[in-house]
Amino acid sequence: MAKIRTKWICQNCGYETPKSLGKCPDCGTWASFVEEIAVEENRNNSNKVFFDDGSEAKKLDDVESVDKIRFSTGLKEFDRVLGGGLVEGSLVLLSGDPGIGKSTLLLQAGVNIANSGKKVLYATAEESASQIKLRAERLECKSDNLFVFSHTNLDAIKNQIEKTNAKILIADSIQAIFTPDITSSQGSVSQIRECTNILMDIAKKQNITVIVVGHVTKDGTIAGPKVLEHMVDAVLYFEGDKYKSYRLLRGIKNRFGNTNEVGIFNMMDKGLEEVVNPSEIFLNQSTEKMSGSVIIATNEGTRALLLEIQALTGTTSYAAPRRVSNGTDFNRLLQIIAILEKRIGLNLSKQDVYVNVIGGINVDEPAADLGVALAVATCVRDVVISDSTVIIGELGLSGEVRPVCDIEKRLNEAEKLGLKKAIIPKNCNSKKYKNLDIIEVERLIDAITACCKSKVVMQ
Ligand code: TYD
Ligand code: MG
Repeated sequence: MAKIRTKWICQNCGYETPKSLGKCPDCGTWASFVEEIAVEENRNNSNKVFFDDGSEAKKLDDVESVDKIRFSTGLKEFDRVLGGGLVEGSLVLLSGDPGIGKSTLLLQAGVNIANSGKKVLYATAEESASQIKLRAERLECKSDNLFVFSHTNLDAIKNQIEKTNAKILIADSIQAIFTPDITSSQGSVSQIRECTNILMDIAKKQNITVIVVGHVTKDGTIAGPKVLEHMVDAVLYFEGDKYKSYRLLRGIKNRFGNTNEVGIFNMMDKGLEEVVNPSEIFLNQSTEKMSGSVIIATNEGTRALLLEIQALTGTTSYAAPRRVSNGTDFNRLLQIIAILEKRIGLNLSKQDVYVNVIGGINVDEPAADLGVALAVATCVRDVVISDSTVIIGELGLSGEVRPVCDIEKRLNEAEKLGLKKAIIPKNCNSKKYKNLDIIEVERLIDAITACCKSKVVMQ
């Protein structure tokens, strides 16, 4: 009888070893190894040299362009993140926290696609078909072309694809589906990897578009092996504030489009609604403007977003003052504080500094530097910047304000939202605006002076 071989697999990164280890040598996680039965692959390669399954190399000119085989999900924001719609035969991974609205988004998109004439199979391994029906009733959507199948076995799902002749498969979720080819338990690294492989095969060989739902772990990464992200064509994150109704759909990887795109939705009673004017929801709606609050314009993919940045400073009660950044890069904040101290003469060595981007958005663009610097500086001096001023610019270490890309798009958005004044880097913009007063600044001190109307001494 053949000996059963086992191997130990790290549940975090997929590292394999013949013996259990306390700490994974690859990703450094502790106690992450699980024993699984190794499947012996058929290593008989004798006829590989003559392999021929009819596939042939094509001239580049003869290869069909991707744009021709894109189709819409019926949700503009979803299409935007995908780079203009779903691509036939692609495999998309949608991940996010539990309860954020992944199933809702996919059901809405699935019904839209089904109503456009394509057959859609919604395979749910987590909920029953009647739960999906309940959700569909809540969303008030119907379609003759959408099939719901509640099963955890991937072979059964494959069967249903053939029976229903579906062109789109939604698999909810990859952690709950299993393939009987592998003995390890549902949700294990081997199962996830193998199931994704099979789904990839379905997508590429049968030209079926597959959307897979993936869970995230406590620290926010996709549960399962990192290789999962490398295998799929696109990785999208659905995120948002649990206490607020808007949701952000972010592209992390996209073989068919831009990855900086963000789609913005609002979770309503009857499902997700697209947000037409996103900047409005991120600006502070409070009537009284406080010091340390500025509006910046960031570039998210193909559009500009206006965001509010707030800073709070106060005398520290610790030996080393605290610096906290929410939504901006921590090291960048330290750099901006150093610039404020050296170039402006603002003494922050005894001040705690907290910076927060309203709305839970992450801004990693250097174009937000000037906004962060002004938020901190005006908070220290208790100066209120008018809430109709937008601040754009990158900060150099010598205190100079450097140009940023796509300034026109940012200024257009500011004008559209009724802002009156823009502080921008010098020699960056050539366009004239009717309702926007543009102030070009060369150095950080000029920007501070421009904001605070009168010249302020920052000592
Ligand atoms: P769901 O799509 O089940 O989340 P996920 O698949 O990511 O776990 O969404 C669940 C949440 O969305 C739940 O808290 C209820 C809320 N919701 C609405 O607010 N409105 C709706 O129309 C629907 C369908 C759900
Ligand atoms: Mg779900």
